[in-house]
Amino acid sequence: MIIVKAIAELKKILFDVKSRRLITGFVPTMGALHSGHVSLITKAKKDTDFAVCSIFVNPTQFNDPADFEKYPVTIEADIYLLENAGCDMLFLPTVKEMYPEGLQHHLHFDLGFIETILEGEYRPGHFQGVCQVVHRLLEIVTPHKLYLGQKDFQQCMVLKKMADSYFPLVEVVVCATVRELNGLAMSSRNKRLTQAERQQAVALFNTLAYIKENIVPGDLHNLAQTASQQLVYRGFKVDYVSLANADTLQLVDSWDGKEKIVALVAAFLKDVRLIDNMIVSG
Ligand code: PAJ
Repeated sequence: MIIVKAIAELKKILFDVKSRRLITGFVPTMGALHSGHVSLITKAKKDTDFAVCSIFVNPTQFNDPADFEKYPVTIEADIYLLENAGCDMLFLPTVKEMYPEGLQHHLHFDLGFIETILEGEYRPGHFQGVCQVVHRLLEIVTPHKLYLGQKDFQQCMVLKKMADSYFPLVEVVVCATVRELNGLAMSSRNKRLTQAERQQAVALFNTLAYIKENIVPGDLHNLAQTASQQLVYRGFKVDYVSLANADTLQLVDSWDGKEKIVALVAAFLKDVRLIDNMIVSG
């Protein structure tokens, strides 16, 4: 695997790759890699000729500075996982390389109502930061395909919208959430949990499964409320348990029995904020 820190060098290599008419796949990450990330690389390797991964803990998407400070960094282990997954190139830029003119945003991304709800509501400015960095990365890497994980359901919608506006030729591929055997969605933030807390965190998955088992047409308010109470009972501080149309992310209060519904949850276990989601209808 080629490891590159400088944009100029990365562009030189990619120019050569593209002049050989190879198809490129790109997986942006913030490192502390796990099997979820690896599944995206594996898919990119399967679909394309040249898989590029980036590791960059993007300061502009952290609305909580403490969360940024505590974000796990495991670069040696990450390189090992990427090499085993057959990744062709790792882009490992510094903040200066990514933002030579400082961290302020030059573009405002028009994301509409999607950035006002759920993660957008609880993490103001987060999606502008995510779009800022992925826009910059797509300009640098110019891939044919962009690989994202359904684990971050709302992020996929936001980035699809951004990519459709600015990079209409880039194909966005969304990959299924990879889970531990007990159902816990893999996440870099799980590295901040003790073994006992990881066991406790399975409640997020169990709550989503509970919603899936119990959803019936009609008012959904009580179902969401009961699910939220289950999490509080299990020691979580809940930001939201919400049910939304899986195609538009419009929140759904009353289900007609036909709409495709996604349940989304965000909750803190001590000071670690975890998110998960599940398609609960159909
Ligand atoms: P990060 O949290 O490192 O995730 C990188 C990619 O891996 C995202 O597309 C995410 O949805 C996917 N991913 C994470 N956990 C997963 C799991 N359990 N199963 C499948 N895919 C999973 O998301 C980000 O970084 C950043 O916001 C980024 C897009 C890189 C911009 O900075």
